[in-house]
Amino acid sequence: MSPYADVAHLMKGRTIARIVYDAETIAGRVRELGAEIGAAYPEGDLLVLGLLKGSFIFLSDLVRQIPRPLQVDFLVATSYGNETVSSGLVRLVYDPETVLEGKHILLVEDIIDSGRTLNRLVDLLGVRRPKSLEICALLHKRLTPDLRLDAKFVGFDAPHEFLVGYGLDHAEDFRQLPFVASLAD
Ligand code: IMP
Ligand code: MG
Repeated sequence: MSPYADVAHLMKGRTIARIVYDAETIAGRVRELGAEIGAAYPEGDLLVLGLLKGSFIFLSDLVRQIPRPLQVDFLVATSYGNETVSSGLVRLVYDPETVLEGKHILLVEDIIDSGRTLNRLVDLLGVRRPKSLEICALLHKRLTPDLRLDAKFVGFDAPHEFLVGYGLDHAEDFRQLPFVASLAD
């Protein structure tokens, strides 16, 4: 029997190759990140901006571990242009209501892969004159040397596999898995 039989009913016929980060490991790292972020922002307004949808579980766990006042908003970005070769064009489908000017902005992302999405967002948000702009990513594949702004806070350096769970999807499935796993082919 598969060691992942307890979630087999969630997998729509796909199989988990291995659990890369289990729930306990993630929770421990999120607690550390929260403390790190709390210490890094001694004063000023902090706006935690979650990039939807992938960051929704990570963000909700993370903000509860940051021991300082903060506000939360979200961004929804969509890529368009050439489908097969990611063109790096990004459009905001939901733009935060809040003013960014003068605030510390912490952009929260599920995973940094090519970094194209983030590169565009950093440009888009930068012109709104935040007091500071930093990135927190749960997972970082460390594939690109030319990130406009690299993540200051990273949960884990991720293996170069396709990962699902804890917010990450495969064609919108598997976001609700309580761990991060790679899928069998
Ligand atoms: P980038 O612009 O190539 O860095 O793409 C980042 C986005 O692609 C992430 O926010 C995810 O939504 C998605 N993505 C990249 N790698 C993975 C993965 O291994 N599993 C699930 N989604 C991924
Ligand atoms: Mg996705």
